[in-house]
Amino acid sequence: MKCFVKVLLLFFLFCSVSFAIDEATIKKQFPFFPSLLTTADGKAVKSSDFESSTVCMGCHPDIYNQWKGSMHSNSYNDPVFQALWVVAEKELGGSVRNLCAGCHTAIGTVSQEVKFENGKFETTDIAKEGVTCDMCHTISDVRIKISPTGLPQNASFVISPGEVKRGPYKDSVSPYHKTEYSELHTKSEFCGSCHNVFHPVTNFHIENTYTEWKFSVYAQKGIECQDCHMVPVEVAITTAKTLKKPEKLPGKPCTTGPNRDYMYTHEFIGGNAVIPKLMGSQKHSDMAVKRLQNAAGLEVKFEKEKTGLGELEVKVINETAGHNLPTSLTEVREMWLEIIVKDKKGNIVYQSGVLDKEGNIPEGTEVFNAYAVDESGKHTVKPWEIARFEYNNTIPPKGSKKVKYKFALPKNEKELDVLVKLNYRSYPQKVANALLGKDAPKIPTILMKQKDMKVKI
Ligand code: HEC
Ligand code: HEC
Ligand code: HEC
Ligand code: HEC
Ligand code: HEC
Repeated sequence: MKCFVKVLLLFFLFCSVSFAIDEATIKKQFPFFPSLLTTADGKAVKSSDFESSTVCMGCHPDIYNQWKGSMHSNSYNDPVFQALWVVAEKELGGSVRNLCAGCHTAIGTVSQEVKFENGKFETTDIAKEGVTCDMCHTISDVRIKISPTGLPQNASFVISPGEVKRGPYKDSVSPYHKTEYSELHTKSEFCGSCHNVFHPVTNFHIENTYTEWKFSVYAQKGIECQDCHMVPVEVAITTAKTLKKPEKLPGKPCTTGPNRDYMYTHEFIGGNAVIPKLMGSQKHSDMAVKRLQNAAGLEVKFEKEKTGLGELEVKVINETAGHNLPTSLTEVREMWLEIIVKDKKGNIVYQSGVLDKEGNIPEGTEVFNAYAVDESGKHTVKPWEIARFEYNNTIPPKGSKKVKYKFALPKNEKELDVLVKLNYRSYPQKVANALLGKDAPKIPTILMKQKDMKVKI
């Protein structure tokens, strides 16, 4: 705790040197620091200034049903988030409460209505709706220029609750609320404020999805986050493969409004199939599996070397993710190669990446993720402790990685069966057990791609 206060002070000092602003200015610019979130006048508002998504449901039922069950609707209630947030609160005495809450419940943050009592967080019902309709549609600006890195980060947006709902149309009329065209809502910068999580003191980029996208071919071609995460998964796959958006996405945003040529959906599907199901939406969970099964390409080659060893070369390609594969919580997510080589009788000749009895990935497995360490070099998954990544083995957009496996070939065999699987898991089983205790579900391994082949030896 003491140490954290010290680093926080150092941060102020750092800011006063590099930006020539003092602590008072930081407090004025970032009234909910360490979150960079603010309101139009920097003053706290009440959660009752926002409307519940159930009100919007009355006229936008399809959009409501897409959003309900999404990770955005779970962003506060998600038990994995809650468990780690409680650890942060206990270890740091509340100093990062606003940081985590700024993205996971912006309404709870701008209203300062999040309480920590008897070892648990409590807040109003509206704040518990997480990343909700009225939260997103009352965002009025982003504050990228004054963020410490000049990039969107740590909820660097302005929220202005009230009658005006901002969205993509220039000609919409609603009997219930005012509408305003917002170009921001059609751009990745809108999402980037929450999808770039940087350490609040050092600005080390812990989650970097926006930045990965920004320097990709997708950004160059004008393909935004919305074009893959606010359309049906099949549409996103085509967009990613052709690097072209569809000409039409017909829909009816409101039961009493016009039919539109272009309408985005609100499921916000990523790779998480665990939490949606746990919170009651099989639909969102199935869609996440589909997304993962279409994200990567897999190519396998076998060669018998002159030395008599067998060499398997596996190429994993990031085909449809507009950022690294995987992205975001890369220090926790696991994407790995599982290899099983068998002889005719089914005896195992070679294997790699097969889970052990406790459900852990064995040492030596090719895992495409990041390995986070604290200042002393010790492995950690607590975001506030992360000083750097020892390595980052994720695959850039449209990029690929090659992995080689060498093994001794059995004598008196002519043919081998080779099975190569690319797997994904949202959390290591031991992290889930540590956070959720006896309530921890078995974390499923999702098969992203598989190649079966027979090779002559
Ligand atoms: C800048 C916004 C932002 C901040 C600040 C932030 N998060 Fe998150 N958090 C996210 C996003 C976005 C995801 C989802 C990423 C993904 O699914 O890959 C996430 C995911 C998580 C998850 C994984 C949940 C799951 O079920 O997979 C945990 C745990 C978590 N955050 C905890 C925290 C804690 C604790 C803090 C404060 C120390 C914090 N977050 C601060 C945006 C933020
Ligand atoms: C009484 C019905 C009604 C209710 C309740 C309602 N809306 Fe609307 N809304 C409409 C109509 C009608 C439109 C116009 C649709 C169109 O032109 O395609 C609209 C359009 C919108 C737009 C598009 C704005 C633009 O210009 O791009 C947004 C965003 C929106 N509503 C958000 C919300 C939110 C958030 C809520 C809940 C707080 C809500 N609405 C509640 C009827 C309603
Ligand atoms: C994560 C933020 C976010 C949340 C949560 C969210 N929206 Fe949206 N919504 C957007 C964005 C961004 C667009 C514009 C996409 C584009 O045109 O590029 C949009 C578009 C719309 C539109 C215009 C029609 C369309 O779908 O393109 C309406 C109406 C709307 N939202 C209503 C709602 C309602 C009602 C809810 C809650 C049930 C909701 N939104 C939740 C971000 C959000
Ligand atoms: C106010 C902050 C905020 C904004 C704005 C926001 N998100 Fe999120 N988003 C989150 C948080 C927090 C989570 C993770 C919740 C969790 O894991 O508990 C999340 C989760 C997601 C996921 C699911 C990740 C998974 O692992 O399955 C996707 C996809 C996503 N967001 C896309 C978007 C897109 C696209 C936009 C812009 C249109 C956007 N988000 C805007 C905060 C935000
Ligand atoms: C070209 C399509 C495409 C674009 C553009 C795109 N994504 Fe994704 N996204 C995907 C695919 C495919 C996945 C699933 C594979 C993965 O997890 O990386 C995914 C996964 C995610 C996840 C979950 C990651 C995890 O494994 O926990 C988040 C969060 C996310 N995207 C946010 C964003 C944001 C924010 C943007 C814009 C800055 C964006 N995406 C742009 C296709 C896209």
